[in-house]
Amino acid sequence: MVTPTSSIDDDILTVLWSPEQLLQKVQDLASKITHDFSSPDSSAPVIVGVATGAFLFLADLVRNIKLPLTVDFVRAESYGSGTVSRGAPKISCDVKLDVTGKHVVLVEDIVDTGNTVSRLIAYLEAKGASSVSVCTLLDKPSRRTVQFELLGDGKFYSGFECPDCFVVGYGLDFDERYRNLPYIGVLKPEVYR
Ligand code: IMP
Ligand code: MG
Repeated sequence: MVTPTSSIDDDILTVLWSPEQLLQKVQDLASKITHDFSSPDSSAPVIVGVATGAFLFLADLVRNIKLPLTVDFVRAESYGSGTVSRGAPKISCDVKLDVTGKHVVLVEDIVDTGNTVSRLIAYLEAKGASSVSVCTLLDKPSRRTVQFELLGDGKFYSGFECPDCFVVGYGLDFDERYRNLPYIGVLKPEVYR
């Protein structure tokens, strides 16, 4: 006999942002990016999502940016199955597009310690990008250990400030699960203890 699995919603302590709140914020961020890259002398940006966490955010974001942009992904591994960052991540999947002389917008689910974003900015700089902006849905400034500088006239776009707790949903995972939740919530500590 197959034991029925409980709903993944049962593992959530509180919902921080509903699907409607997320979409509203994504539309605001997309409008800012559209505005900032619309000048006639600015080429359309290369939107680079950080896999896997940014996949839903990126999908909703690009559908609301009104520019002839291109899309690519990078993968940076730092977490494993724990909830505490292991420090400098390694880039395990490269961009396919040539970013030389291009304006890159790195799209992240969350900036926590800053290690991942800092590593990726340096990486894109070495590849010859002319600017690197960061667009993150969530920011946990209280946990920052690495201060990063954007490249060229790159900007920092940030959706919501996230409290210092482990959150999942809308792309964010714990041990590769919960990414498919349509909202972002706090995971019950007993799930990962
Ligand atoms: P950083 O390198 O410490 O800034 O961490 C960035 C990465 O850690 C993000 O791309 C996320 O994948 C992951 N991360 C950080 N905090 C959380 C969280 O609360 N839930 C899920 N993933 C997180
Ligand atoms: Mg991530």
